[in-house]
Amino acid sequence: MDGAIPNLAGQQRRYLEKQMALFRSGARVDPAMQVVAAHPTVGNQHDIVALASYLSGLEPNPNPVNGAGEHLRVGQEIYAHICAACHGADGRGEAGNRVPGIAGQHYPYLQRQIEVAAALHRDLAPPEMTGALRGMRSQEKDALADYISRLGNSDVLLDSNRSIAEGR
Ligand code: HEC
Repeated sequence: MDGAIPNLAGQQRRYLEKQMALFRSGARVDPAMQVVAAHPTVGNQHDIVALASYLSGLEPNPNPVNGAGEHLRVGQEIYAHICAACHGADGRGEAGNRVPGIAGQHYPYLQRQIEVAAALHRDLAPPEMTGALRGMRSQEKDALADYISRLGNSDVLLDSNRSIAEGR
């Protein structure tokens, strides 16, 4: 399960509120989260807002799980052309439009979310995003997930820039 669970620290507050509400209603499905969201401590909107506010104020995880680092240049190019428009060049998302931050998320988690969005199993992902992901080869999707997992970590970013410059 290493890296399968998303980092919530530092996530956009309104996005967290929305996702908690979706898990509660059953519109977003995950067996583990369904149990959590049904728990009385997050039983009403007030609790959800308080929890989301707390989580969004925490420092993001500085050491997410990364991929092999072999195709970061590919990942960077796709990210800049397609994903940055909504998720931001820094991958931190956008509060007002409920676009989640994805920078520094675990590689396995990103891979999975990219797959479910490409398979149209993530209903609320916008068509610009699902459309782009559906047309992508799996190597490109993996490169993208690897690049995003390193976004926002200054040390790792230096390394990735170096390997990009060296054409590795
Ligand atoms: C048109 C705006 C837009 C574009 C372009 C876009 N996204 Fe998204 N993305 C979103 C929104 C909005 C959500 C949240 C959907 C929801 O509410 O479930 C999202 C969700 C995600 C998630 C799930 C995050 C999580 O932790 O739940 C991932 C991963 C993701 N996007 C990756 C990408 C990648 C990779 C690209 C580029 C190929 C991309 N997105 C392009 C708007 C966009």
